[in-house]
Amino acid sequence: MAKKHDIAIIGAGNLGIAIAKGIAGAKLAKPKNMFLTRRHLEKLADLKKQKFQVTSNNIEAVQNSEYIFLCVQPKQLPDVLKEINAVLDPEKHVLISTITGVEISTIEEHLEAEMPIIRAMPNTATAIQESMTCMCGKNVSEEQLKDVKTLFEALGEALIIDEDLMKAATVLAASGIAFFLRYIRAATQGGIQLGFHAEEAQKIAMQTARGAASLLVEGHNHPETEIDKVTTPQGCTIAGLNEMEHQGLSSAVIKGLLASFEKINTITQ
Ligand SMILES: NC(=O)c1ccc[n+]([C@@H]2O[C@H](COP(=O)([O-])OP(=O)(O)OC[C@H]3O[C@@H](n4cnc5c(N)ncnc54)[C@H](OP(=O)(O)O)[C@@H]3O)[C@@H](O)[C@H]2O)c1
Repeated sequence: MAKKHDIAIIGAGNLGIAIAKGIAGAKLAKPKNMFLTRRHLEKLADLKKQKFQVTSNNIEAVQNSEYIFLCVQPKQLPDVLKEINAVLDPEKHVLISTITGVEISTIEEHLEAEMPIIRAMPNTATAIQESMTCMCGKNVSEEQLKDVKTLFEALGEALIIDEDLMKAATVLAASGIAFFLRYIRAATQGGIQLGFHAEEAQKIAMQTARGAASLLVEGHNHPETEIDKVTTPQGCTIAGLNEMEHQGLSSAVIKGLLASFEKINTITQ
């Protein structure tokens, strides 16, 4: 980031705390320059010991910050925006909403001023700094968008997309965590049937999944290039892979993603 900014996290629950720790861990802001708010302050006692500014006063947090993360539950958002509206300044503040399914235009309906707003969709791997975060912005400068991307890169990878792809990103990256985990669970169950104890089978499945992803991330290769390296002619890998495809593996994954996308369109507008 060009310069260090003071940060407010309104709604320091699971995600808010993970964001705060990630940003502090990457030294993008000092704990003393980060305001964490929630109503039950006793749950932030550990963070207070680590020198984060901990308060129930959202207005104080906003007034002392430039980048304001909104990390409350969707139903809590209207009240929070109503509360901080009067102290929001478009020349000073950037709002960053992580709230699932809430469009930028919905946030704007609750605001008096035309604010710079960024909408971001992280996933639960934020907790271990391995999130895939998709983000988009409105009324933001290139520098502000870049700064906030850098903040999310402290929590994994970040990608700037168009807002109309946000629901697809939610399915692919947020629901996607569950889809990949189910594959690992299925591989573990197969491993148990082949003779491994459950813990050993899961360890093998987890590390193999990590290795497969790393081959693509670090090798910048196409999946089929790596698959071709493993499939000996007439060998066991191609026999297993083709059987999985006969049973509809790729088709099941694509149909599952489309079903999630159809559902998300019915539950968020
Ligand atoms: N968890 C994830 O990985 C993830 C990923 C993508 C998107 N999201 C989105 O991020 C948001 C937060 O998720 P979460 O899992 O972190 O939920 P969470 O643990 O319930 O956190 C929400 C926090 O907001 C606080 N809060 C409620 N009303 C408040 C108010 N008026 N002022 C200040 N703080 C207030 C709550 O604490 P008190 O009750 O003590 O006030 C709670 O700690 C959700 O909208 C979710 O859709 C989460």
